[in-house]
Amino acid sequence: MNNVVIPAAAGIVKHDIANIALAEKGKKRILWADQDMPVLAAVRARWEKEKPLAGLRMSACLHVTAETANLARTLRAGGADLMLVASNPLSTQDDVAASLVHDFGIGVAAIHGEKPVTYYKHITMALAHQPHITMDDGADLVSAMLFIAHDWLDKFDPEKQKPLRDWAGQFTPDQRKHLFDEVIGSMEETTTGVIRLRAMEKDGVLKFPVIAVNDAETKHFFDNRYGTGQSTLDGIIRATNVLLAGRKVVVAGYGWCGKGVALRARGHGANVIVTEVSPIRALEAAMDGFAVMPMEQAAQIGDIFITVTGNMHIIRREHFLVMKDGAMVCNSGHFDIEIDLVALNEETVQYTPNVRPEVEEFRLKNGKRIYVIGGGRLVNLAAAEGHPASVMDMSFATQALATEYCVKNKGRLSPKVHPVPRDVEEFVAATKLASMGITIDQLTDAQVKYLSGWEHGT
Ligand SMILES: NC(=O)c1ccc[n+]([C@@H]2O[C@H](COP(=O)([O-])OP(=O)(O)OC[C@H]3O[C@@H](n4cnc5c(N)ncnc54)[C@H](O)[C@@H]3O)[C@@H](O)[C@H]2O)c1
Repeated sequence: MNNVVIPAAAGIVKHDIANIALAEKGKKRILWADQDMPVLAAVRARWEKEKPLAGLRMSACLHVTAETANLARTLRAGGADLMLVASNPLSTQDDVAASLVHDFGIGVAAIHGEKPVTYYKHITMALAHQPHITMDDGADLVSAMLFIAHDWLDKFDPEKQKPLRDWAGQFTPDQRKHLFDEVIGSMEETTTGVIRLRAMEKDGVLKFPVIAVNDAETKHFFDNRYGTGQSTLDGIIRATNVLLAGRKVVVAGYGWCGKGVALRARGHGANVIVTEVSPIRALEAAMDGFAVMPMEQAAQIGDIFITVTGNMHIIRREHFLVMKDGAMVCNSGHFDIEIDLVALNEETVQYTPNVRPEVEEFRLKNGKRIYVIGGGRLVNLAAAEGHPASVMDMSFATQALATEYCVKNKGRLSPKVHPVPRDVEEFVAATKLASMGITIDQLTDAQVKYLSGWEHGT
């Protein structure tokens, strides 16, 4: 185990967690993950000396896992006063949350399995921290800030907004008006969050710059593809112990995540079917050797269904009705809206929760049984431990360095969604390669000249 000096901080920082007594187990998990996060460790080592975030309050709404804990330690090493809350009710590792509070002196408000009322209580705790920088995984923090500041809590989806509205009462009208005033910028971790933030930019409601960390090549090429690919199957296997070899696995969406899931399922010996709406992605899937067909057809023959589209209602009533007895469905897209669970419930005559941990049985009117894994939420986090540390190393080093870039450019970035600077990406990739003991060729002078000229022809 590596040599880490840990300040005893119990009781000092603000927190709302399940059980502080779990800290010892969580610390072991955090330090285990840290061993596989060399790029983030390099950033942390530099930041311990330079303190680029000194004097800044930060609120981060992320999956509270061991890997995130190492990002939190890095932000703290950089001088930030950090408050961490959950970006998903099912992904919090309670032991990790306990250790962050107890061993690392970092404020955490996150409880595994928290209901919407607690989820939004925690979101408002993050806002009450009055952040200069926010960090999101799905844009819930930025949207909550918008809804509260503009008093839009009844505007779009009043029923869903109710828990947020109840907690928003703690902000006075004056505090609401000034909620954005000190925000320098925000980082966004995932595809769905970037889509929401771009929509805010288009509607002219985004009030500060956002760095689209998800869109960095050092993020989605690796995290979405290899991280989601491996951990999604890990979640399915842990929850069901099912043999994938010989099974028909339907992957809905052949984006960065879908490619990884399909590739890894094939590696297990599954017969993989892809469903898509984009002709280009569908063609890519077909040329990568996968069967491609509409969900209507796939629903009749699939054994295991995995949605990873970032879109809603991918598996609907008409699909459930034609599925085989014993079909399993799960989701690895950001929100729990890809599987229409309302329709499934309406078709169900007998519901049995916990046939195994994280597996629910729905017996339909037609007599067939459908199993839902992970409650339709991110299965890799609900039923497994999320992405392995090695891949989160790159995503979170990119997050940390994007934060530093945002702070250094305070007041110079427009209130839009910005890309991660290329030099950040190159540093992350080069440091990761070095940590893997891999060296690569360098361009010769002649090659540089050739690549920048037009004179050479046939
Ligand atoms: N589970 C995780 O840990 C994890 C990690 C990263 C991203 N995500 C989330 O996964 C989702 C997908 O991310 P991505 O980076 O692969 O996005 P992406 O944009 O690269 O891919 C999404 C794909 O889904 C397709 N699609 C959209 N509607 C569809 C439909 N009705 N039927 C079939 N296909 C459809 C799109 O054409 C696209 O090819 C997002 O919600 C993202 O936030 C989850």
